Amino acid sequence: MKMHISKTQEEVIVALADFMVNEANQSIAKHGRFSVVLSGGSSPKKLFETLASPGYRERIAWPQWFFFFGDERYVPATHADSNYRMAKETLLDPMNITPGQVFRMNTDLTPPEAASAYETDLLAYFGDKPVRFDLILLGLGDDAHTASLFPHTPVLHEKEALVKEVFVPKVSAFRITLTTRSINCAANVAFLTFGASKASAVHHVLKGVRNIEEYPAQLIKPEDGTLHWFIDEAAAAQIEN
Ligand code: 6PG
Repeated sequence: MKMHISKTQEEVIVALADFMVNEANQSIAKHGRFSVVLSGGSSPKKLFETLASPGYRERIAWPQWFFFFGDERYVPATHADSNYRMAKETLLDPMNITPGQVFRMNTDLTPPEAASAYETDLLAYFGDKPVRFDLILLGLGDDAHTASLFPHTPVLHEKEALVKEVFVPKVSAFRITLTTRSINCAANVAFLTFGASKASAVHHVLKGVRNIEEYPAQLIKPEDGTLHWFIDEAAAAQIEN
């Protein structure tokens, strides 16, 4: 596991953006393309805007980037809460990413169909190779959930499916999420976490007693890949000795 602790949120974003550009260039040199799973929520917005900004966008071989989503709220793609909409507005549209490079979780379908349709998309993209993303971005909720792997939900124990729909009592709504199976076979997994409100969750995940029902992000352990934490000092306050 690699900790990338920065003083401020802005420095965390720059560190992760630099990491992504370098990782992408290495993946493209190795196998001609870069598969990246975007996280949702509010934290990644500044990251996407940074990647699309002068100084970064020229360094990126956009046609070789392929975009996936770690989870999605069950709302239309145009809804204010849609993770896809946020990525589209801040990164995909400004960088003229073509539709063939973007794999949206299709929330126009009903829950079980949407999850199986997305799994089919993943299998088609990776072809005869195992599903292994070059990079998965993850956020961390202050309850230590990640993607839509929320405390005390059945999806935490899913061993077979790569993508599942899950009803989340906490938000009284369905979500669609990558499972630990698809996350833990990635080459790189990077948490992007900042702010004092996350310090307790970070401590529980990294230093606390093992309790995956309470702290689902403890499940994230790439089998043959690297786990990164891009985090500011405020969020790391309870783990720094
Ligand atoms: C979502 C996310 C979720 C998010 C965390 C952190 O769809 O909400 O995927 O897992 O990453 O809740 O959210 P913030 O970045 O907004 O704190």
